[in-house]
Amino acid sequence: MSIISNCTATAIKDAATALVKGDLVAFPTETVYGLGANATNKNATGRIYAVKGRPKGHPLIVHISSIGNLDMWARNIPEYAVKLALAFWPGPMTLILPRTDLAKDFITGGQDNVGVRIPSHTVALALLKEFEDQGGLGVAAPSANRFGAVSPTTATAVEIELADFLSENDQILDGGPCSIGVESTIINCTQNKPSILRPGAVTKEIIEDTLGVIIDLSTLNSESIKIKAPGLLESHYAPKAKVFLTGSPTLGDGFIALDSFTTPNGAIRIASPKTNEEFARVLYEAFRLADFKGLRRVFVIPPTGDGIAVAINDRLSKSAFEK
Ligand code: TXA
Ligand code: MG
Repeated sequence: MSIISNCTATAIKDAATALVKGDLVAFPTETVYGLGANATNKNATGRIYAVKGRPKGHPLIVHISSIGNLDMWARNIPEYAVKLALAFWPGPMTLILPRTDLAKDFITGGQDNVGVRIPSHTVALALLKEFEDQGGLGVAAPSANRFGAVSPTTATAVEIELADFLSENDQILDGGPCSIGVESTIINCTQNKPSILRPGAVTKEIIEDTLGVIIDLSTLNSESIKIKAPGLLESHYAPKAKVFLTGSPTLGDGFIALDSFTTPNGAIRIASPKTNEEFARVLYEAFRLADFKGLRRVFVIPPTGDGIAVAINDRLSKSAFEK
């Protein structure tokens, strides 16, 4: 496996060629790093599951470079989905749409829907564009972490997660730290009204403003989502340290909270974000730091309010230790 720290045009070309050939390329997006494979190549996408240790049947998001390519992967696209695509792509949003024949069972986990996203990170967009210029149709990419672990927001975190599992010809593109830090908003566009399956930086409020409809967040943890996206409900996004969202840290415990909270006596401050946006950006690296320090427990004061706080709280509740 090679780590490409300088993503020149030549390096991007080489990485796209590797994808076309069926190798894996981890690349930066504005949300988290993805582990990419040619989305029409069964063997290549199969390697994603092996490298991540991810159970089969969890669908993969297809990444494309422009809305012009959406019709290849999705059909019966509702008008509201077109509006969302025009408003938020490239950006931190994944649309779940009825699939075309191009989206095989090995991408969708056998479901009739496919997840599609156009990321906005310059390196991601350049890679996708070059891949398409070389004849590729889409790049399947889950977050570049081992199954159940915290998503990587730096190339070093990808290396720590996956180096032991990647092969000689696979690559990691280093595009610096991710600017958002939590995974994309996933919107179910297979019904007459959109619903949010996973909250992210494209928030409920922004979607409502764009579409002029009210989005019901009660679908977030409903049974129907369990069937649609098995990965969304299990214990996820968890560091090795046990995460507590209530109670107080004692001597040697980690502590993550907004800067306005003082560190309790004896606790080890892991992160002090000044805003909720910064909270999202630093959370996963803070979890990694806790593990690096060998901490056994991390106490987090969850952010309050709407906007990105909803996504942060979603991830925190999934990472939290169940007593
Ligand atoms: O920000 C992101 O979305 C990142 C970057 C790399 O693009 N990707 C990402 O992928 O978070 P992943 O696989 O770690 O999480 C995607 C989630 C999974 O829980 C999967 O089950 C769900 O999206 N998903 C993908 N395709 C789906 C589909 N067709 N129907 C329902 N859920 C789907
Ligand atoms: Mg993931």
